[in-house]
Amino acid sequence: MKFSLLLASLLLAFGAQAATPDELMTKAGCMACHAKDKKMVGPAYKDVAAKYKGQDVAAKLAEKVRKGGSGVYGPVPMPPNPVDKISDADLKTVVAAILKP
Ligand code: HEC
Repeated sequence: MKFSLLLASLLLAFGAQAATPDELMTKAGCMACHAKDKKMVGPAYKDVAAKYKGQDVAAKLAEKVRKGGSGVYGPVPMPPNPVDKISDADLKTVVAAILKP
């Protein structure tokens, strides 16, 4: 009985913790097209980070992910990712994590 209470509170504590950028991207479906270090449908996140190294592009990239677009890495478009997929706050977290070297 004591043990299951402890377990329940542990689970609660973990549940309350903020999701990591990886978890957010998995949840939002980004990982269907992207991986950290290999090109899939979309560019590898490490290639995105390398491309914009030292540039202040977080807001621009967040908007691109939100609206979708093509032409930067090739003809394949990224579809729009609306708010019901990923919130503004989560999108900001995720883009910051992608750009972090
Ligand atoms: C259906 C596939 C698909 C999904 C889902 C997807 N992407 Fe993309 N993404 C792409 C493609 C293709 C490109 C390259 C677009 C281009 O060449 O301009 C891209 C480009 C990007 C870029 C670089 C944009 C630039 O202009 O440099 C970022 C950052 C990115 N995606 C993040 C995300 C995030 C975060 C999510 C989830 C919310 C996501 N993507 C979901 C296919 C996808």
